[in-house]
Amino acid sequence: MPFLKNIWYVAANAPELDDEALVSRKICNEQVLMFRNANGDVSAILDRCPHRFVPLSMGKRIGDTVQCGYHGLKFDGTGACVDAPHDEESQRARACIKAYPAVERYSVIWIWMGDPALANPDDIPVFEFLEDKEKYTCCQGYSYIKGNYQLISDNLLDLSHIHYLHPDIHQGSSFSDFTNKVKREGDTVWSMLWRHHYHVDAAKRPYFGMSGDAEDVEGQGHARWDAPGVLFVDTAWWDHGTDIEEGVRTPNAHLITPETETTSHYFWASGRNYLHGNDDMTKMIAATMKNVFETQDGPMVEAQQRDMGLSTNFLEHNPIILKADAAGVMARRIMMKKIREEAAANEIPVTDVTAE
Ligand code: FES
Ligand SMILES: [Fe+2]
Repeated sequence: MPFLKNIWYVAANAPELDDEALVSRKICNEQVLMFRNANGDVSAILDRCPHRFVPLSMGKRIGDTVQCGYHGLKFDGTGACVDAPHDEESQRARACIKAYPAVERYSVIWIWMGDPALANPDDIPVFEFLEDKEKYTCCQGYSYIKGNYQLISDNLLDLSHIHYLHPDIHQGSSFSDFTNKVKREGDTVWSMLWRHHYHVDAAKRPYFGMSGDAEDVEGQGHARWDAPGVLFVDTAWWDHGTDIEEGVRTPNAHLITPETETTSHYFWASGRNYLHGNDDMTKMIAATMKNVFETQDGPMVEAQQRDMGLSTNFLEHNPIILKADAAGVMARRIMMKKIREEAAANEIPVTDVTAE
């Protein structure tokens, strides 16, 4: 199945570009080189010198340009060749490379792999918690998953796996009486999960900034999906009879970007409205998130991909669809529609898309 091109993908966590770093990463099968210019803008260009096709990331950064490590052609962030030491001006003009629109927002770098004329940063889904430093302390990280990006969206939109795959995280909670509602708003899918009897140890309540000693509380885990795999999961718990705003809130971002058809970049961020500025807690949460994705969810997704081989269309394999799959299937249908529309506009045949 072709990749959707006219959409914002997450290409990096913003701190990766600090200290004049050159970051090279394959996105939708294209090797992209990213760097931050002196004025703070982010540039993204194809990581491939047009002369001998070596990665520009093997060269060096000089100011706001990158010099190829082989024969010294130098490129700026627009992809223009700004210096060809041994050639005429006319040769230099021919040596430009592909550049991609890229912006920094919500502490990550967003990249547009399609037609630059269609790139509008206003279309980037909103992640308010990553900018609300007063209310939330956040950490972010990265995991590499050997599975198709849509399998990871399926995982996040169906939180009925929590009790089985992550028993230690939600110890004591009852999942037998959760309620789930799926809704679609335009091309956004919401999978709303209410856990009416979430368990929190009385001993841990002060640590979350909660008074009293009730162990049975209200909980929610609402997941919002946008194409291609941009998810916001709003997790919270609060005392029965009180308002969610008085409770504990741990909003998360799960930003899934295909590297290839069968491998994915998983950028994640987690916020909390308790123990602000406690670095030990921030490190502990980041380590837990990474461990959970890489030793629990990741291996499940990778096992699914192994079973599918090189296929990228899970629904084509005729899985049993359960009630909890409603949001995941809805998201997949939206992706299929977008991919088909884009392919039709570009007159590209789409062969690996199951008919709805
Ligand atoms: S390969 Fe880049 S300048 Fe020759
Ligand atoms: Fe999970």
